Amino acid sequence: MQLEGKVAVVTGAGSGIGRAIAERFAREGAKVGAWDLNADGVNETVQTISDAGGQALAIEADCADKDAIAHAARQTRERFGDIQILVNNAGIAPFVPYLDITDEQWDRLIAVNLKGPHLCTREMLPPMLKAGWGRVINITSSSVQSGSFAQGHYVASKGGVLGLTKALALEFAASGVTFNMVPPGFVHTPALDNAPVDIEKFAQTLPMKRVGRPDEVASACLFLASEDSSYITGQTISTNGGRYMGSA
Ligand SMILES: NC(=O)c1ccc[n+]([C@@H]2O[C@H](COP(=O)([O-])OP(=O)(O)OC[C@H]3O[C@@H](n4cnc5c(N)ncnc54)[C@H](O)[C@@H]3O)[C@@H](O)[C@H]2O)c1
Repeated sequence: MQLEGKVAVVTGAGSGIGRAIAERFAREGAKVGAWDLNADGVNETVQTISDAGGQALAIEADCADKDAIAHAARQTRERFGDIQILVNNAGIAPFVPYLDITDEQWDRLIAVNLKGPHLCTREMLPPMLKAGWGRVINITSSSVQSGSFAQGHYVASKGGVLGLTKALALEFAASGVTFNMVPPGFVHTPALDNAPVDIEKFAQTLPMKRVGRPDEVASACLFLASEDSSYITGQTISTNGGRYMGSA
């Protein structure tokens, strides 16, 4: 078991990719704080983990809200102890033509997708630094590498997380805490339901001729969360079926 004895927080663990990461980490021995705005979703995730013999705590929290994050971190620590692994996965991905994006839509998206990862990291980093070991994994998006139609605010937010990841990787490189990114391509989750394209048809244009599965993103996160990735920071593992092969 690769994460035996570790405590992890996965944000947005009530659905899709976050759920797969939480389940995978728990199977590898981690105690998981499963956070999500959606209480039903995150309770389901934790039930599945418990049924399989793992340990997890469901917490309803808005990961764009500083006080809610502090409260969720406190609950997680009280139950499991210090948090060593953080996966910033919670996100929203609406499709809105650029000129139609309202200020409110822009601000909420940036609050959830960019400020949220910053707030969660700032809450959880100090104890990791004190312990001299930690892992921060940010779920970005292949859209940062390729652009994405009618998602100007979304791509801007994920590009911001890319910059934050590299900046923190450098600033804390000697600390024992690593910061890496996993940008998924197209992965089968409820978020894809809103995409203004026929996903199965689109999948035929991808090099692997299929969209990805959440557990394939979870595998990359598991590696980055484990001891095996100890000399890797500021890096990107693109889980995109060969869609984009650049180094960004
Ligand atoms: N599915 C894809 O093809 C794809 C591609 C690229 C990037 N991503 C990224 O992967 C991550 C997960 O996406 P998914 O496809 O699993 O989506 P999803 O909609 O299935 O799951 C996202 C989860 O985040 C939660 N969430 C949203 N806002 C929140 C908030 N403020 N606080 C706490 N929880 C919140 C939702 O309730 C939901 O449970 C997102 O960051 C997304 O941008 C997904």
